[in-house]
Amino acid sequence: MKITKISDCEKINFMELLLLADEDVKMIEKYLYRGELFALYDDGLKSVCVVSRESDDVCELKNIATYDKWNGKGYGSKLLEHIFSHYRGKYAAMLVGTGDIPWILQFYQKNGFKISHRIPNFFTDNYEHPMFDNDIQLVDMVYLCKCL
Ligand SMILES: CC(C)(COP(=O)(O)OP(=O)(O)OC[C@H]1O[C@@H](n2cnc3c(N)ncnc32)[C@H](O)[C@@H]1OP(=O)(O)O)[C@@H](O)C(=O)NCCC(=O)NCCS
Repeated sequence: MKITKISDCEKINFMELLLLADEDVKMIEKYLYRGELFALYDDGLKSVCVVSRESDDVCELKNIATYDKWNGKGYGSKLLEHIFSHYRGKYAAMLVGTGDIPWILQFYQKNGFKISHRIPNFFTDNYEHPMFDNDIQLVDMVYLCKCL
């Protein structure tokens, strides 16, 4: 297994995977080039994530995705472990914002994030059409925080 930081000129090649976590290309482009993208390879590309600087103390996980076929094999957690140690010492905390989806919250909580706050109606206010994860409509943005 190998985790690599991807250069700016190669980032666009990961759009298909990034779109699994965020369906809007324009929203992805807003953070893709100000953030750092990490790719996990294990006999081929399995997962990606993007982390951006939000302040001197805080960074934010903007996107994390594993190809459907490889979900539940620990790749997402390995990527989180890697970025926690990469950013430890540079930032005090990492934030992540997500829809109020039980299994996604469970994934982050299993990896040490704790619920911090929420932004009511974020998804209904910022996207042009209603968004769903399986059958659950995304309405509020839930923020979780991990001390590094
Ligand atoms: C969230 C995601 C990145 C996790 O990646 P992964 O490689 O499957 O992660 P891991 O194998 O380390 O952990 C899987 C855990 O995620 C949770 N989980 C993720 N999706 C789930 C689902 N559809 N149903 C149930 N649990 C799920 C479970 O807690 C699971 O733990 P378990 O295997 O012990 O049951 C992956 O499911 C994904 O790409 N989802 C689509 C994109 C997305 O929604 N990204 C997050 C945006 S905020």
